[in-house]
Amino acid sequence: MNKISQLISLLGGTGAVAKELKIQPSAISNWKKLNKIPSSKHKAILELGSFLNINIENFLPAKKLRDFKFKILLIISGGVASYKSLEIIRLIKKTNINLDVVMTKSAQRFITPLLVTSLTEKKCYVDLFSVEDETKMNHISLARSPDIILVAPATANIMAKLANGLADDLASTILLASFSKIILAPSMNPVMWNNLATQENYKKLKDRGIKFIEPDTGDMACGESGAGRLPEPKLIVESILSDINKDQTLASQFKNVSILITAGPTIENIDPVRFVSNRSSGKQGFEIASELTKRGGKVTLITGPVNIPFPACENIIQVNTAHEMLDSVYKQLPADILICNAAVADWKLVPKTSSNKNFDLNNKIKKTNSSLLFETIKNPDILATIAKGNLRPKIVIGFSAETNNLKKNAYSKLISKNVDLIVANNVSNNKVFGEDYNKVCLIEKNNCEEWETQSKKSVAFNLVNKINNLLNNYNQRGINAK
Ligand code: C5P
Repeated sequence: MNKISQLISLLGGTGAVAKELKIQPSAISNWKKLNKIPSSKHKAILELGSFLNINIENFLPAKKLRDFKFKILLIISGGVASYKSLEIIRLIKKTNINLDVVMTKSAQRFITPLLVTSLTEKKCYVDLFSVEDETKMNHISLARSPDIILVAPATANIMAKLANGLADDLASTILLASFSKIILAPSMNPVMWNNLATQENYKKLKDRGIKFIEPDTGDMACGESGAGRLPEPKLIVESILSDINKDQTLASQFKNVSILITAGPTIENIDPVRFVSNRSSGKQGFEIASELTKRGGKVTLITGPVNIPFPACENIIQVNTAHEMLDSVYKQLPADILICNAAVADWKLVPKTSSNKNFDLNNKIKKTNSSLLFETIKNPDILATIAKGNLRPKIVIGFSAETNNLKKNAYSKLISKNVDLIVANNVSNNKVFGEDYNKVCLIEKNNCEEWETQSKKSVAFNLVNKINNLLNNYNQRGINAK
């Protein structure tokens, strides 16, 4: 299924989308065939996704390629630094960024929504339960439409709410309901900032991928001094503009690069109801597919059966067995990059009677008193087969789950399977499987990097940076050889 077909099916199918957008179903069928949505319909599609609470951001081209403006939602929470947000608004207004503002109740004790409106020339949103606000722009649209949500100043209170999933006002509800990039600029008394509770929330939020503009150190309005001061608005806005630039550069980093990723487990049937398999949630492979898609890569994900939502990517192929996975990889070649993250079942088990006879495998094997025997048949090694074959992609990456001698075993796989990089992790005591965190070690011929424990999302982000370096080196070698 191509990317646009996946998107249409997520949104309810051809008929439903055609009805919502008030266009002919044949037009939608055409989009699916061409794997492209005309830019004039991007906004309507995004709004439909937002209305249905479905994140479809990655299915469409990077924002700069679309025909509407970059959007920031500024949330002002209540602290002595709230007044500085007026300067932030003034500076953002000087750019061509589309800005909306939400204020918390306590922020309104420091500055008024009227003052904000006079700067933005737009409605300032303050109330979760306002009928008027909800009909104009409901809180889900406020949460979904911005590219960035900036909370400045971010109080200890709003950080605690977000870290713990509280949604008792408009600002905290938006933060919880959003898929957008969230940036917090904390500002508070130094003792509050250093309080263990705040520091734990800070760490929790950072681990979840929320970005921080760190508070400055110096004299505070309350007379104390230390860390907790809101950085100057000019620095906050500059940092955001540089982030936007970076994101937009990253969004085309893998443009025209085709990437194959295997993920999840494979399963090998014993009979119609029983099978053997490997432990794998698919999470790490799906995060890599998602990150490469965000960076403009043409990603085909070949996955075994998993219980997690599919990432947005060009193409998803679902398989069951190792043979099906290998066939699918072959069919997708040539490709520039192959990442074998799947936990492929190494053997197929063929059941035999105690007198070594085969069963009729169309029927469930009956429980009898006599024991079953199994013949083990080795499955193909997808990674090694492709890495040693004629159609070897430019870059081939394998994974290695080990319970002992992590680096040694991973290194021998690097050599024996002819791959460029092995991402190794320790899976003793069932660590890693299904978890959101991972601790990996990157093994190359002349290099070994031990990464600290981090979320699988963050491993994907850093690994994609590494892959970008490998690809640049490969292309550079090609240029030098000419
Ligand atoms: O040899 P081992 O199974 O530990 O190697 C792990 C690496 O090889 C992973 O990248 C996995 O995706 C790949 N592999 C494969 N086909 C197999 C077994 C492993 O592609 N049959």
